[in-house]
Amino acid sequence: MSDQFNGEVERRKMSPKYDHLKRVRKYVTMLLGVSLLALAGCGSERTPLTTLDPRGEASQAIQNLVVPVFIVAGIVFVFINVGVLYVAVRFRRRKGEENEFPEQVHGNTKLELGWTIIPALIMAGIAVGTVATLVTLNTEPDNTAKDFEVRVVGQQWWWQFEYDLGRDGTVDFVTASEMVIPTGVPVDLTMTSRDVIHSFWIPALNGKKDAAPGRLSKLWMQAEEEGRFIGQCTEFCGLSHAYMRMYAVAKSPADFDKWVAGQMTNAKIPAAGTAERRGLDAFTNNCAYCHLISGVNTPDCTPIQTEAEYDAKANTCWVGASPYTGAPQVSGMAPNLTHLMTRYVFVGALYELRNVDTGEINVNNLEGWIRNPEDFKPMAPEPTRGNTYGRGMPKINLTEDQIDDLVAYLSTLAPTSA
Ligand code: CUA
Repeated sequence: MSDQFNGEVERRKMSPKYDHLKRVRKYVTMLLGVSLLALAGCGSERTPLTTLDPRGEASQAIQNLVVPVFIVAGIVFVFINVGVLYVAVRFRRRKGEENEFPEQVHGNTKLELGWTIIPALIMAGIAVGTVATLVTLNTEPDNTAKDFEVRVVGQQWWWQFEYDLGRDGTVDFVTASEMVIPTGVPVDLTMTSRDVIHSFWIPALNGKKDAAPGRLSKLWMQAEEEGRFIGQCTEFCGLSHAYMRMYAVAKSPADFDKWVAGQMTNAKIPAAGTAERRGLDAFTNNCAYCHLISGVNTPDCTPIQTEAEYDAKANTCWVGASPYTGAPQVSGMAPNLTHLMTRYVFVGALYELRNVDTGEINVNNLEGWIRNPEDFKPMAPEPTRGNTYGRGMPKINLTEDQIDDLVAYLSTLAPTSA
C-alpha cells in the first residue's frame, strides 16, 4: 500500500502536471504580495472612511479600545498558528511510520487549567474595556456651552438635519447633506428615519447608529479640529444605498454662530424682471411641492404665485410641521433648499455643488441634475409595482432657458452675510 503511495508521488513529481502546480504556487505567492501592497495603500488620505484615524472624543474612545484588543488578538493569532504549524510539522507522518498509531495523550491537568483560565482572563479584560467604552459612548455629554440638538433624519437617499436651538422642541432651521457643528463641543444627535432603516456613520467622529422609522436613538460627536468629515449610510436601504453620503463640517464656535445666524434668515426674493425672478417662478411652478425655501413657499403646499404674495408671506413660512419629524416642510421628501449655496455637496453629498477651495458653483453639475437626475444616481422617481410614490428626484422636463433661470435663482440662495 505504502509503496504504491510513494510510487504515485514520484510519478506525479515527474509529470508536467507537477510543473503546473509549481507555477500555481508561484502565482499565489505573487498574488499575496500584490494584495499586501494594495492593503498598504489603505492610508487615510485615499480612504477617508476609516475608523483608524479618530478626530473626535467619541471616535478616540473607540480607538482606545480597538488598539489593545487588536494587539491581544494578534498575539493569540500568531501563537495559535505557530503552534498548529509546529505540531503539524513536528509530528507529521514520516517515512516508515505509515502503519504506526500515534501515542494518545489526554487528561493533562496543568495544560487544561491553563487553556481554560488564560482565555477566560483575556475575555474578561476585553469585556471590562468594552463595557467601559460603551458607557462613555452612551452617556449624554454636557453640551451646555452650545445648547442645541440636531435631529438627523434618514431618507432614501440623503440625510436631513433639523436644528433645535436651545432644545425647546421646535425646529429652527433645516438643512441637508452637510451637518455643521462647532469644534470642542459635544453635539447631541437624535436619529430617526422617514422611510426605511438607515445607519448614520461619520467614522472620524463616532461609530455607527441606526436611524429607524418611528424610533429615536441618541448619538453624540465632538470634533476637536475644524474640517470636513465624510460619512456613509451603513444600513442597506434600497437602490442608492451605496450613494447615500453626508459630511460633518466642523467650524470654530464663532464661525458656527455666524453660520447659524445666516441659516435662521429667509431666502431673498429676487427683483421682478430678472433671470433670478424667472428662476423663482420656475421653482414655485415645478419644485415647490417637494422642496421648501423659507420665505418662498408655505408648508401647506401652496406655492406663492405673485409678487405681492411673495412679500406678504415672506415671514409666515414656519407655521406648519411635518407629522413625522416636527420639522417645518412641504412634502418632507426632498432637501430644504433655503440656503443651498452654503453647502458644497448635493445629491446625497455625492456631487460637488461648490468648489471647497474657491466657493465657485459647479454649474454643470447643477444643470445636469435638473436636466436629467437619473444620470447622477440610480433612483425610482416614478411609481412602480410595490412602490406607490417613487423615490428620488423626478425628471421635470424644463426648457434649457428655464434651467438657466432656475440655476441663476438657486445660485442666489445664501444668507446676505455669508
Ligand atoms: Cu440609507 Cu443605506
